Formats: sequence, structure tokens, C-alpha cells
Amino acid sequence: MANHTFPKDFVWGTATASYQIEGAWNKDGKGESIWDRFSHTPGKVLNGDTGDVACDHYHRWRDDIQLMKDLGIKAYRFSIAWPRILPSGSGKVNEAGLEFYSQLVDGLLEVGIEPYATLYHWDLPQALQDKGGWADRMVVDAFVEYADITTRALGDRVKNWITLNEPWVSAFVGYRDGHHAPGHKDLNEAVAASHHLLLSHGRSVPVIRKNVKDANVGITLNLTPQMPASQSLADRKAANYIDGYINRFFLDPLTGRGYPEDMVKAFENSMSFVQNGDMEEIAVPVDFLGINYYTRNLVRADEKDNQPQTVFREGVMTEMEWEVYPRGLYNLLGRVHFAYGFPAIYITENGAAFPDDKPVNGEFHDPDRVSYIKEHLKVVNEAINIGVPVKGYFVWSLLDNFEWSFGYSKRFGIVHVDLETQKRTAKSSAKWYSRAIAAQSAEID
Ligand code: FCB
Repeated sequence: MANHTFPKDFVWGTATASYQIEGAWNKDGKGESIWDRFSHTPGKVLNGDTGDVACDHYHRWRDDIQLMKDLGIKAYRFSIAWPRILPSGSGKVNEAGLEFYSQLVDGLLEVGIEPYATLYHWDLPQALQDKGGWADRMVVDAFVEYADITTRALGDRVKNWITLNEPWVSAFVGYRDGHHAPGHKDLNEAVAASHHLLLSHGRSVPVIRKNVKDANVGITLNLTPQMPASQSLADRKAANYIDGYINRFFLDPLTGRGYPEDMVKAFENSMSFVQNGDMEEIAVPVDFLGINYYTRNLVRADEKDNQPQTVFREGVMTEMEWEVYPRGLYNLLGRVHFAYGFPAIYITENGAAFPDDKPVNGEFHDPDRVSYIKEHLKVVNEAINIGVPVKGYFVWSLLDNFEWSFGYSKRFGIVHVDLETQKRTAKSSAKWYSRAIAAQSAEID
């Protein structure tokens, strides 16, 4: 595989998520989600931005499919808004919600784009949050019900299913840091939420397999290499701690190792919500692991402000202040494969926000984004060459969209979206990606 040429069956995709692009937040029977509630609460999202309209994808999905078709994109990862399907979280099904995704899927298949559906990308029905949300075990049955209904309706056409997107973010950013919906600040809730997320995943996998012939099922984690700032034992211990917090606390239980003991101790949590049989259910075999990779962290031991570790970044940064560090993806892929051995891996998100998207003669030139995607694709290729079974890559994101608590201030799209007019314009990065797909190679200009 010289010249960074990819295997013939490599999956070239783009990714989005329901709340970030759909809009139509209360249309056709959709229920309120925790992100509707959060973004409608003053002070939670930068500039008071909301996903009420977003990219209006709910009405423009045909155009967006055409856009992908024109670019030669082979696969599309989107997420399904749970409150469109079950407005109250469980019970009564909203047929219009199922119909929306059914049409979307038909539209994709008509033009030969393979759908990859994520069941949960953070828009929990508010009705379930009112009962405790992910911190309460009742959510597990509700998720399995939702997964069952959705995969029964779409499973004849959608073969690739991702149960959850980034459970660490749902649990810790949503329930501990309070930066995401539901905006709580309670470590115990966050740890319980992690468990109920993982259990929801584990319990829904057999249900999805039952409903979907030839299913390809997995889960997506945000994995971030944690590197010690120096080789001192103290810094290495600090990095190992953050690795436990962000990476091992999810990788270990998914692969049958249970929760890492150092973390259970550090959280000072009795884990009394773990019931007999839960850990076996969580460790259900999957077909793949989805990895979202953006950056690495540097970690140093620190006793300031009662914080034993300090996480920091340096070097060339994206607009998110995430270091551009492609080598970290290579190292991560090697580590995950050799230490955990998932049958397959997809890069379900990788991409960058840069403030360089000003039009020149109507063209959006984004050389930093081109270089970001290219360099990451190259190391994916190198990882494949050392035997890591990476089967596909999804750029985050197809469209500039609602970047959670940053609102619309951060643009990740390879396609520019004018938020006033909703006009879509392919940036240089989209055109580069299109050529890379045609050449099956990252080694192109
Ligand atoms: C990931 C999310 C995705 C997007 C990117 C930038 O954590 O899964 O929705 O916001 O970050």
C-alpha cells in the first residue's frame, strides 16, 4: 500500500448529528429533548444560540444527500433524534418521526450512499430527564425500547448501527461539568450515568441483532491519548489517571475487564447501582469500535487548587484549542487494537474547526482543514499497514453546524453553511476529500 492507498472496501464517509443539523425542534410531533431545554435556558450556550433551526436539514435533506453524491461520498453517519420517535421517551410512537428517517435512508440508498445510524447522539427526551435521565436506571429499559422500535422500522435497509456517541461526554460533561445538557454538576450522577449508558448499549445490541439481518453493530467512544508532560513518575501517574477517567473507564468494561479499580477508588463511589449480570451484558461482543479522535492531552502532576492533575495543550491549535496531533491517532489505534482487540475499528469522527473560512471570489479556501484531514488519513493508512483493522473514516462534519455550548461560533464543516440563507457551498476541503475518495489515497494535492 505505497502512496497511502486504501483498501478497496475502505468506507469513506462524513458524519453529522441530529440536534446539530436538523432544526424543526418541535415539528411533526417531536418531543422536547434535553438539548432543546438546555439551549433555551439563558446563559447555557454561547450567544444564546439554539438548534431550533440549525442547518434546517429536516427540510433540506434531499439537497444534502445530493451534495454528498456530487462529492462522491460513500457513507453517511447521522444520528436519530430519540424524541422524534418517542416524544415522551417511551410508550407512544410518533410515526412521522420514523417516516422522516425512513425517507432519509431511502434517499441515501437510492444514490448508493451507505447509512451508518447512531441511536444516541445526546438528545435525550426531556421527559426521561424529568425522571432522572441517565443517572436513573429506568433509562435503560427506555433506551432498549427505543432501539427496538427504531431498528425494527429501519433495519431492513440500515445495516450499520452505533448505539451511543461518546458516553464519556454524555455522562461527565453533561452530569459532572455541567457544560452540556442537562447541565448538572454531580460526580456521583455522572458515574451512575456512565453505567446506565454502557448498560443501555450492552442490552440493546442483542435486540438490534434480532431486528437487523447482517447487522454491523458497535459503539463510538471519544478516545484521547493522555501523554505525561515529562517522564517523571508523578507526571506519568497523572497521565495514567486521566487515561483511566476518559479512556479506560469505557474501554475496560466494554471488553470484559470491568471498571478499572483505580478509577472506582478515585471516584469514591460505592458503585451500588451495578447489579448482578450488568458487567456481562456490557461486555457483549460488538462488530466494531467507533473512535472519535481530535487531539491529545498533555498531563502534569499538580497539587494546585486541590487538583492533582493538570491537563494542557500546546503546539499548533485548531479554533477549539485542540492541538493538531495526527501521530496521536496512530499511537491510539495501535494501543486500542493491541490492548483491546476489537474485530474492526471505524474512525467515526475526525475533523477541525478553523477560523479561516472567508470566501474569496465565492470560494471557501480552508487549507488548514485540508491538511488536518490529509495528515490524519495518512496515519490511519499507516495503522492499517501494521495490522490495525480500520475499516472506514468519517469526516466531522459534512456541514458547519451547532457546536453544542459553542453554538455556531465553531465551524467544522467541509461544506460551508450560510446561516442566514442556508446556502451550502463546498469548501476546498470537500473538494480535496472528493479527490481523495476517487483516488482511494490520502497522498494527493
Ligand atoms: C464530538 C461530538 C460531535 C462534535 C465534535 C466536534 O465530541 O461527537 O458532535 O461536536 O465533537
